[in-house]
Amino acid sequence: MNMYRQFTHNIHERRRTRLFGATALLTTTIIVLAQFIAPATATTHAQTSPALATPSYGCTSPSDCLSKMTLAEKEGQMTQVENNAFSQRGNSVTDIKTYFIGSVLSGGGGGPNGTSGGTASQWADMTDNFQNYALQTRLGIPLIYGADAVHGHNNVYGATLFPHDIGMGATHDTALITQAAQVTRDEVLGTGVRWTFAPCICTPQDIRWGRTYEGYSENPTDTAADGSAAIVGFQGPNGALGPTNILATAKHYIGDGHTAWGTGSPYLNEGDAQITEQQMDTIDLPPYQSAVTNKVGSVMISYSSWNGLKDHANQYLITTKLKGTGTDSNGTPNLGFQGFVVSDWQAIDQISSDYNYDVRTAINAGIDMVMVPDNYKTFISTLDTEIKAGNIPTARIDDAVTRILTAKFALGLFTQPYTDRSYTATVGSAAHRAVARQAERESLVLLKNNNVLPLSKTGSYTLVVGGDHADNLGYQLGGWSITWQGGSGTTTVGTTLWQAIQQAGLSSSVKLKFVGTQTKGRYTGDVGIVAVGETPYAEGNGDTNTLALNSSGAAEVTDVCSRVTKCIVLLFSGRPMIINTQLNQSSAFVAAWIGSTEGEGITDVLFGDYGFTGKLTFTWPSAVTQEPCNKNNGCTGALFPYGFGLTPF
Ligand code: BGC
Ligand code: BGC
Repeated sequence: MNMYRQFTHNIHERRRTRLFGATALLTTTIIVLAQFIAPATATTHAQTSPALATPSYGCTSPSDCLSKMTLAEKEGQMTQVENNAFSQRGNSVTDIKTYFIGSVLSGGGGGPNGTSGGTASQWADMTDNFQNYALQTRLGIPLIYGADAVHGHNNVYGATLFPHDIGMGATHDTALITQAAQVTRDEVLGTGVRWTFAPCICTPQDIRWGRTYEGYSENPTDTAADGSAAIVGFQGPNGALGPTNILATAKHYIGDGHTAWGTGSPYLNEGDAQITEQQMDTIDLPPYQSAVTNKVGSVMISYSSWNGLKDHANQYLITTKLKGTGTDSNGTPNLGFQGFVVSDWQAIDQISSDYNYDVRTAINAGIDMVMVPDNYKTFISTLDTEIKAGNIPTARIDDAVTRILTAKFALGLFTQPYTDRSYTATVGSAAHRAVARQAERESLVLLKNNNVLPLSKTGSYTLVVGGDHADNLGYQLGGWSITWQGGSGTTTVGTTLWQAIQQAGLSSSVKLKFVGTQTKGRYTGDVGIVAVGETPYAEGNGDTNTLALNSSGAAEVTDVCSRVTKCIVLLFSGRPMIINTQLNQSSAFVAAWIGSTEGEGITDVLFGDYGFTGKLTFTWPSAVTQEPCNKNNGCTGALFPYGFGLTPF
C-alpha cells in the first residue's frame, strides 16, 4: 500500500472507530441534520452553475474523432479523475476543458460538493455541470461519468438498495438479478451517471477477505450466471447500450478472490494470487468468459498480483489473455474482449516507486483508461513524456482511445450527453423498492428451525426484539452505503427490521417488546428475535483472522435467548461467521447478509407470507482454522456445505 492509500485507509479507520464508539449518536444526528441542510446547497449550486452548453460535436464516429484528435486530446480521453479532485490543490473544474478529460468518477461516498450522499437531483446537477465543460472543448467529446453502483446506486441518498452480491447470489434467481440491475440502471440514469463499476465477478475462495460480500459465490458457475445476469440488466441484451442503458464493468480482473493469506493489505485484499494458470482458468476466468460473451463494456483490473507481478503491469493477462485471440497453454481460448480496460483507484502507482515506469508499463500492458484519480496533471504530463520518448507506441494510444470512444458512441452520449431527468424521480420509488424487497426475502438462508418459524400474525404471544442490528439501518446496509465504509443509524431512506415488524400487520394479541442492545434487562417473552452481526466495512478494513461475532452481539444473543422460550437469531454479515455457540442457543437461525434498505423483505418470510428459498453460495466453516474452505479445495468438516438452506414451508 503506498502512502496515500495508507493515509486514506487510516482516516477511514479513525472515522470508523468514531462511528461505532461513544459518539455514534452525535454522528447519526449530524447525518440526519445534513439531510435537511442538503437541499439548500443544491439551490446554491444550481444558481451558480453556468447555463449548460448546447452540444456541438466536431466528429461523428470513433474513427472520425480519432483522425481529428491531437495527442493532448487523446491523453485526456484516457484520464479518469475523481470528482472532488477538481476542487483541491489549485485544480479547477475548468481543467476538464483545458486537459480534455475523458471521464470523471465518484469513489465510495463521493457525492456532490465534496460530501457523501446527496440527492439524485443534486447528483444530476453535478454530472451535468462536469459535462458542460467537456462539451465546450474543440471537438465536444462528452465525458463518461462512473460510480460504484454495486448494490443499487448506493452513494445516493434515497436510492433503492439491494442485498450485496453475496445475498443476490443466495437467491439463485438470475431473472431477479437482471431486474435488480435494471432498477439500478434507471436510478443511475437519473443522476447522469452512465457507467457503473459493477458487477464484481470475483469468486472468493477465502471468506476472511473483506470483499467476500461483493462476490456472488465461491463457485465460478454461479458467479458467471449471476454476473452476466447483472450485465444484461445494466447494458441491455448483447451489449445493446444506447441512451437508456448504462455501461457495466466486470471487476476485478483477475484473481482478487484467490489471493494468499498474509500477502495483502492487511491480509488478503490487494494480495498475491499464488495459483497456476490452470487454477485461474478453472476458478477465476469463467465469469469473465461469460461477461465477454454477454458483451460487457468495460473491465477493471484487480489490485492483486499473480505470482508476484501486479495485474496492472501484466501484459500477458490484459493484452493476451483478456483482449487477445488464440488459446493459452491449457488450450483455454483467450477472451477477445472488445471493450475498454480501466485501472483501479490509484492502482498503477503500486507497480513501482517510479511513476514514469508505472504509466508506460500499465498502458503497454493494455490498460486503456487510468483511474488516476487525483493527480491528473501529473498523470497527463507523464503519459505525454512517455509517448514522446517513444516508450508507448502511438498505435497503443489510438487503440485505447478508439475503445473508449466506441463505448461513448454506443451509449448515445453524442446525442444525449446530459441527465435524462425523467429518470430522476424514479430514484427510491415504491416500484423499485418492491424489487429490492423481493430480493431481500429471496436472499435469506434458513440454517436452523426447531418448530418456531413461521411466526403467527394472529396468535397471543409476547415477541421480544433486540440486538444491535435490529433497528440500525446503517448496520443493515453494510459497506459501500452512502459512504465507502458504510455507517451507523439512519444514513438514508429505508426500513429497519424493527420498523418492518411494527408494520407487519400483526394483530394486537401479539405483544411487541423492543429491548435493543440491553443485556441485563428484566424482560421475559415467548419468542425472541435477536439481530446481530458485523459492523460495516469495505475492502481491506474487512479482512479478519477470526470471523468471530463481536462480544456485544454474542452477549445480546445470550441475553435474549435466555429470557424467552424460543429465540430466532438473525445474522447480518458480509459472509459466513463462526457462530457455533449462537446456533446452539437459538431455536432458529437465519443468515440475513447485508445491503438492502427493505426490512419488509425479512418480515415477509418470518411471518410466513413467503417461504424461505435462499441457499448458501459459500461453504460455512465451523472454525476459522478451516479457511480457505470451499467446494473447490476439498475442505471437510464445514458447519454447512455450499448449497445448504432449509425450505420447511
Ligand atoms: C475499488 C474498486 C472501486 C474503486 C472506485 C477501489 O478502491 O477496489 O472496486 O470501483 O475503488 O471507487
Ligand atoms: C474512496 C474509495 C476508494 C478508496 C481508495 C476512498 O476515499 O471513496 O472509492 O476505493 O478511497 O483508498
